[in-house]
Amino acid sequence: MASTAEARALLQTHPVELPPEHVYFGPSETMQAVRQRIDRAAGLNVPILVLGESGTGKEVLARLIHDRSPWRDGPFVKVNCPAIPGSLLESELFGFQKGAFTGADAAKPGRMETAHGGTLFLDEIAELDASLQAKLLHVLQDGYFTRIGDHEERRMDARVICATNRVLAKEIANGGFRADLFYRINVISITLPPLRDRREDIPYLVEHLREQFNRRFKREAGPVSKEILHLLHHREWPGNIRELENCMARYVILGSEEAFHADRHQNQEKKPLSFAFEVNEDGKIPLKRIAQQVTRRMEHDVILKVLQANQWNRRKAAEILKISYRALLYKVRQAGLPAKRPLRKVADSEDGDMVTVDKSSLLD
Ligand SMILES: Nc1ncnc2c1ncn2[C@@H]1O[C@H](COP(=O)(O)OP(=O)(O)OP(=O)(O)O)[C@@H](O)[C@H]1O
Ligand SMILES: [Mg+2]
Repeated sequence: MASTAEARALLQTHPVELPPEHVYFGPSETMQAVRQRIDRAAGLNVPILVLGESGTGKEVLARLIHDRSPWRDGPFVKVNCPAIPGSLLESELFGFQKGAFTGADAAKPGRMETAHGGTLFLDEIAELDASLQAKLLHVLQDGYFTRIGDHEERRMDARVICATNRVLAKEIANGGFRADLFYRINVISITLPPLRDRREDIPYLVEHLREQFNRRFKREAGPVSKEILHLLHHREWPGNIRELENCMARYVILGSEEAFHADRHQNQEKKPLSFAFEVNEDGKIPLKRIAQQVTRRMEHDVILKVLQANQWNRRKAAEILKISYRALLYKVRQAGLPAKRPLRKVADSEDGDMVTVDKSSLLD
């Protein structure tokens, strides 16, 4: 089965296309309000702050705003603040002159410069450390910056969009974020609703993601059934659209609605203390052994789901699980799973006798 981690890895290596606008916004009232707000804001030369829980589509919105703005022909430059360590982030943002520090063998423009004429997207802005917050404030106040080790003032000519999933008021209250920087970046703010507050949009997202993943993974998964749509409609979606996206990637890869049940099962497993771990007689809790047991149990469940979804075709299962055929045979044995599809009793003879069928031997 394509696990969440595998689906994520696939998604990262294939950046997701921007959804068409009718899909991005959907018919929900909350998203229609967002659309009206960006219609007004996209063209204004002021910073925009995009807020919302993780996975609600903040980065996609930043790209849509860029595409609708007068800066659309310029570059869209993203800076993922926490992904770049503090000292490097400064040189990434501002650039440096040759000899500015050890290893600066040649001058390099920062992303403020590469965003010239376009949009600078500062993602997860709440993670910026205090000294960079001060420097950014300075640039936003007077529009000029200097490369590290340089005297020349350069004008920043880019629309700035910032995003965070933190509650900035709280960060300000506990001293983690500067109030004056907040006022600078928050000229216009747009809050994306969590998926649970826009459930009417789910069928549109599901259909869009199904088509997109069918194209990307060269599959032909059909539309999801009404029952599954009902199930998806009532989920809580703590991971928002990213969680739905993983779910749809698994559905398309597995080609089976098992994917949705597997996900529900996984979410249950994530509940704290849902795994009743053993305590030794001496009161010790051996972490290594517990981890081994959990891994085995998880492998058992994942392998079983993939085998079931693929009519017990073990070669195909090994391919999907990205392990060798031999490794799969070993793990199937170790997990105590049958080597062939278990015989199912079916009453299909005229006199009502129970006969057993095993089609997997034909497929294997
Ligand atoms: N309306 C949409 N239709 C289809 N896919 C979407 C939509 N909105 C977001 N996505 C997809 O959902 C995933 C999450 O979106 P995005 O990265 O923009 O969220 P985010 O709010 O920035 O999340 P995080 O806070 O975790 O960084 C992405 O893979 C994106 O392509
Ligand atoms: Mg993001």
